[in-house]
Amino acid sequence: MNQKPQLPPHVLIFPLPLPGPVNSMLKLAELLCLAGLHITFVVTEHIHGRLLRYANIQSRFECYPGFQLKTIPDGLPEDDPRSRGKFAVLFDSLKSKGKLIFKDMLTSGCLSHQKRKPVSFIIADGCLGFTCDAANEVGIPIVYVRTVSPCCLWVFFCLPRLIEAGEIPFNGDDLDTLIKGVPGMESFLRRRDLPSFCRSGDPHDESMRLYKTEGQENSRAYGLIVNTFEDLDGPILSHMRTVCPNIYTIGPLHAHHKNKLAEQAASLPPTSNSVWSVDRSCMTWLDSQPSKSVIYVSFGSIATLTKGQLMEFWHGLVNSGVRFLWVIRPDSVTGEDWESQVPAEVREDTRQRGYIVGWAPQEEVLAHFAVGGFLTHNGWNSTIESIHAGVPMICWPYFLDQQVNSRFVSEVWKVGLDMKDTCDRATIEKMVRDLMVVRNEEFSGRAEEMAQLARTCLNEGGSSYCNLERLVRDIESMTQ
Ligand code: UDX
Repeated sequence: MNQKPQLPPHVLIFPLPLPGPVNSMLKLAELLCLAGLHITFVVTEHIHGRLLRYANIQSRFECYPGFQLKTIPDGLPEDDPRSRGKFAVLFDSLKSKGKLIFKDMLTSGCLSHQKRKPVSFIIADGCLGFTCDAANEVGIPIVYVRTVSPCCLWVFFCLPRLIEAGEIPFNGDDLDTLIKGVPGMESFLRRRDLPSFCRSGDPHDESMRLYKTEGQENSRAYGLIVNTFEDLDGPILSHMRTVCPNIYTIGPLHAHHKNKLAEQAASLPPTSNSVWSVDRSCMTWLDSQPSKSVIYVSFGSIATLTKGQLMEFWHGLVNSGVRFLWVIRPDSVTGEDWESQVPAEVREDTRQRGYIVGWAPQEEVLAHFAVGGFLTHNGWNSTIESIHAGVPMICWPYFLDQQVNSRFVSEVWKVGLDMKDTCDRATIEKMVRDLMVVRNEEFSGRAEEMAQLARTCLNEGGSSYCNLERLVRDIESMTQ
């Protein structure tokens, strides 16, 4: 008698509809495809358009017959500037419009066919709490994933107790006051290191409401996937495990992904999950620079600068005398016509020692021999990519987890300098010189130690390697 071949588990992945989280979740999707699972990757129509335009997503996943991309509306008008920090609006809209459509996706059979089981497991961003409601209603196991840092997640978990103790919100005064209500951080976490929404002075602040609720959400799922490794975040993870016992640390995700591709399928096409068009000309420029002589400057995919801040960075970088590669996205600067404000002599100095692109191949840039430092906004992806590459940082956090991350970079991991809440050319010049010249040995040595730990956890038997295997085993055993 002919036995029907067993179909693999079918995992639905639903990332937060923002460029950074989509980028890292595509990497997780590919890791699970390589492990033989079937994947449905759900994105909003808005993100879908950008993936088709910039990331060539169709041909990129062509080699995985088990991968399919599906869209869901986010309920906002087409011309709404979704990536401008008003996350609460986006989440609320997605929640009110998306929940029914999402549940219908799970139950209508539209995601399965003869060669694909119905969805048997869900991995969703922990901010999308309605996915857990829907999963529970239809009886499908769900694991949450969080793309922000564990140190900030732990702060989110503690928001209710900080509010109860009257430690937050505050109105932007006495920013050096220590915060006592986050276990494990009592000796170094200051008001200024908390997510910026804590400074609003408003107990009904939208972001506070959102992150307080979703911090409590995370323990509802069967487990939590985070992009870190045990040797980096062990102490914080022990605290988090008191609330969420089942945590899968599988990071640094970008490097884990790269290793597995190299291990399993050397012939796969080069990957790009970018949602901007990448300017690779900076790699040729880097090739002609001396070893560790360049500071890379980038503030991720969301942060914006005022024209005044742009000019302070510009002067600070030029005055430092250090070479720089700077990412200025087409939408980086608020207001128009900033280019005409850059004085001719600064432009001339930039041409001699600097290079500017709209979007860089960041992982490759950080791994390049010419790069010796990173002036960053400390988005979690940038931070962990820098740690893995052994590149020390200067931190200029913008919002969300970035304030906490920058404190960890300077005070806990000691791989850089934190310049949060300042933006003047003299400070920038001094910090660039300190990181790249005066204290370079100290920072580079420490960064290299951390990088070794990051690489070891991805080797066979390492913590992140084993945790990814455990995740796949758990998916398989829960979906039989
Ligand atoms: C957002 C939030 O801002 C951040 O705080 C949170 O931790 C994750 O989600 P984003 O601002 O985009 O992320 O920053 P980050 O997390 O650093 O992600 C940026 C990604 O874009 C990185 O993977 C980086 O490699 C990539 N990038 C950035 C490029 O490939 N090229 C560039 O020129 C700039």
